[in-house]
Amino acid sequence: MYEIELKPEEFKLFRTYIYEKVGISISEEKQTLVKGRLSKRLNELELKSFKEYYNRLVSDTTGDELLFFVSAISTNVTSFFREETQWKWLQGYLPELISSKRDKKIRIWSAGCSSGEEPYTILMFLQNYLPDFESWDIKILATDISSKVLKCAIEGCYESTQIEQLPKNMVMQSFEKFDAKNEMKYQIKSALKKRVLFRLYNLVTDEFFFKNKFDMIFCRNVMIYFDDKTRHQLVGRFAQLLPKGSPLFLGSSESLTTHKETLKLLGSSIYQKL
Ligand SMILES: C[S@@+](CC[C@H](N)C(=O)[O-])C[C@H]1O[C@@H](n2cnc3c(N)ncnc32)[C@H](O)[C@@H]1O
Repeated sequence: MYEIELKPEEFKLFRTYIYEKVGISISEEKQTLVKGRLSKRLNELELKSFKEYYNRLVSDTTGDELLFFVSAISTNVTSFFREETQWKWLQGYLPELISSKRDKKIRIWSAGCSSGEEPYTILMFLQNYLPDFESWDIKILATDISSKVLKCAIEGCYESTQIEQLPKNMVMQSFEKFDAKNEMKYQIKSALKKRVLFRLYNLVTDEFFFKNKFDMIFCRNVMIYFDDKTRHQLVGRFAQLLPKGSPLFLGSSESLTTHKETLKLLGSSIYQKL
């Protein structure tokens, strides 16, 4: 693989395009990262310059190259029961939710769900702490911009190292164990899987088509890529989709500086709709 130079004017073209298309603002300091992550792609496509790659990106009407670009510069890192304190908080909030739900119907959105650990954690949590879980009508909408991670999420197959921190009884309750070419893998049981609806969805550019509200929204470690304006718009939309008293979960390093009149910080990056 030979090195291709990324000129400042080419970097600027990528920055503008990505911001307009997906609302991700790539800072100046990311020039080396972009170059490093995309060089392999240029070689694969046998392109000689970043300008050629830019032309390929903007003329690709399928949108596949854009998704590839976003996947290359962003991270899909996730894990089961990420942000432990939020799950502890949810345990305390559950009695209030249960008492407000006479119809036993719960709707949750995992926005930026990556490879599925977050929506499946929500279900495992509810299975563990919600009395008479089976009798509840629970649906989780799990969305992401990347078709690659969604494919993994839909399969729901995980390595033993990904589930080793989970309590043994939870693993037995939620996963089927199988031998994949002498390596143990764990697949989410279909009874849990069928409660999740996975969809390809761009939080910045796609239309907000939701007819009903959600009892909770998780958008954790996703908005770190967005600039203030994009974040502000998105949070405003989340607030509209939450009934009074319902929580919005962000990543532990994320906080809101706007929407103070509609979303109150409860701690641990959990906000409550006022
Ligand atoms: C770091 S992962 C976080 C996964 C999970 N929420 C968690 O906290 O463990 C961020 C995810 O956001 C997705 N993402 C980034 N920009 C997005 C956008 N504009 N619309 C939808 N998803 C996006 C990425 O594809 C990635 O899977």
